[in-house]
Amino acid sequence: MELTRELSLLETATFSRRFPTREREEQGNCKVMIKTKNLTKVFDGLVAVDNVSLEIFKGETVALVGESGSGKSTLARMLLNLITPSAGEVIYDFDPKELRRTIQIVFQDPQNSLNPKMRIGEILREPLLIHKMGKGKERVRELLLMVGLPADYVSRYPHELSGGERQRVGIARALALEPQCIVLDEPVSALDVTVQAQILKLLRDLKEKLGLTYLFIAHDLAVVYQLCDRVVVMHQGMVVEEGSKEKMFFAPVHPYTQKLLSSTLEIKNQLFS
Ligand SMILES: Nc1ncnc2c1ncn2[C@@H]1O[C@H](COP(=O)(O)OP(=O)(O)OP(=O)(O)O)[C@@H](O)[C@H]1O
Ligand SMILES: [Mg+2]
Repeated sequence: MELTRELSLLETATFSRRFPTREREEQGNCKVMIKTKNLTKVFDGLVAVDNVSLEIFKGETVALVGESGSGKSTLARMLLNLITPSAGEVIYDFDPKELRRTIQIVFQDPQNSLNPKMRIGEILREPLLIHKMGKGKERVRELLLMVGLPADYVSRYPHELSGGERQRVGIARALALEPQCIVLDEPVSALDVTVQAQILKLLRDLKEKLGLTYLFIAHDLAVVYQLCDRVVVMHQGMVVEEGSKEKMFFAPVHPYTQKLLSSTLEIKNQLFS
């Protein structure tokens, strides 16, 4: 009895802190931003994504979790139209011509995703030039400020930055075109725990400030718990379960979700102790 009361108090507190988003407050309901219908990708006979239908709501942070090879990045790439689906479709609530601006991606390894031969200023200016959004000097300074980096980093090369700083540049580049949605593909997996916490805080602050929608791909459920509103679980290319963070962490139904969770049982223990 005691435990049930404590449990519901805890869930309600968390719920009110993360929800409703600004969008939901304004509209009183959830607006779908991206929707997939029976999305499938086959690579040389291997079904990487298998008949996935899901919705991403405006203003939420939805986590896509599952073991390595379960199809998370492939699904994300189809959302960004970086690869073509074998079957099914992706539907957007905005003009698909605006896709390159509206949805951006941040990759796991900023070491590889940032051109080592370009200075930080050039890296940040590049999307602005491609999309003809002015010369961008002022915007580059603003972007650096937004991600907590000094303005004089414009003249540095990626190898002159720490891993955390490089990921801040990756985030700044994703923000350059004022996107509505950012796909974060394992954005903190390559960083140590302290830096992970700083980057997660930055992502939370940016979301709050800019009203962003995040699709957050992650292995680490402790990280997912800190950042997300909703969780989608993938296994062998299929979505096996999805629901609110509270449901997925405290009352998962699918055996695969339960298995994923049991490996991070210590978080639950910490929450209940
Ligand atoms: N371009 C490609 N050509 C052939 N097979 C691919 C290609 N991209 C992905 N795959 C395969 O599709 C499956 C899903 O890969 P994907 O990268 O989407 O998994 P993931 O869930 O993102 O894994 P991880 O957590 O390790 O990043 C894997 O078996 C992978 O080998
Ligand atoms: Mg991946």
